[in-house]
Amino acid sequence: METFLTKSPNEAAEFIKKGGVVAFPTETVYGLGANVFDEKAVAKIFEAKMRPADNPLIAHVGSLEQIKLLASEINETAQKFIEAFFPSPLTLVLPKTKEVPLIATANLETIGVRMPNHKLAQEFLKACKTPVVAPSANLSGKPSPTIWQAVYEDLNGRIDCILQGEQTIVGLESTVVDCTSAPLLVLRTGAITLEQLQMIVPETQLYQVKENESVKSPGLKHRHYSPRARVYLLESGKWKAESGKNAAFIGLNRPSIEFDLVKICSSIEEYAHEVFAFFRECDAQKIKTIYCETVEEKGIGLALMDRLRRASET
Ligand code: TXA
Ligand code: MG
Repeated sequence: METFLTKSPNEAAEFIKKGGVVAFPTETVYGLGANVFDEKAVAKIFEAKMRPADNPLIAHVGSLEQIKLLASEINETAQKFIEAFFPSPLTLVLPKTKEVPLIATANLETIGVRMPNHKLAQEFLKACKTPVVAPSANLSGKPSPTIWQAVYEDLNGRIDCILQGEQTIVGLESTVVDCTSAPLLVLRTGAITLEQLQMIVPETQLYQVKENESVKSPGLKHRHYSPRARVYLLESGKWKAESGKNAAFIGLNRPSIEFDLVKICSSIEEYAHEVFAFFRECDAQKIKTIYCETVEEKGIGLALMDRLRRASET
């Protein structure tokens, strides 16, 4: 089966209505979507991505009204976040309704809900007329796709359709906040920063995995975001690379060593926007080692450092 490519959100939505799986752009990364209420379609997502069945999916809505189809209760703090941020790169974990099948939530009684702030995604979601569950549209373990060509590289022939949009704007996955816990916990950092969340609800905290404790967000325990090349983190100015041969560099400052492939970003936002596409380009060029300059863990720098650390874990 060849994957159908289209720029039309309505055409892409037809595949969802027929029980298919469709990759579509959002402001964070491309997602691989299916009708949340269609168990067979949801199963196809796990199969296409080779995703572990214990990793829950995020449901995407095209309107605020659709949240009620997914969440059985929206508590006061969740309501505050929705009012302050939706639509945005923010996912709220809420108690699920009984209509949401357990395959979508990996047997959890909660569901992640997000309303993308992206024109094409919204047009697509509205045309689907149902919430759409979607993980990032990459093969499990690979860097999330920020361009449709990366989706094609991983999933051509394995999915029904790709809705072709531009390169995604943020480049990193959404911030995930568990609204069912007290205190509120940020399970995954992203473009909606801890500082922004704390302005609305000051008690919000970063979730830290403690040893001997089962992970709250199953996705956190899986290997993520890794290119084939070995990834090393380098502190700014402390260039320790042995040689730049078969090696690449991405960061904010030009290093003193020559590399085969170099990407200098003018801001942390640009670094976040570019990093996953850069990892994939390095793999295509058979780069063996990628050096990533570390950034200050503030604002989106916190999310960027989280992804870089995960990529560097072996
Ligand atoms: O930006 C994004 O969030 C993208 C776009 C497509 O929306 N999606 C994405 O999905 O990154 P995925 O599946 O690659 O990552 C979802 C993360 C995982 O870490 C998962 O464990 C967590 O969200 N998650 C989903 N539902 C959850 C739940 N009910 N409880 C705790 N964590 C949950
Ligand atoms: Mg993912």
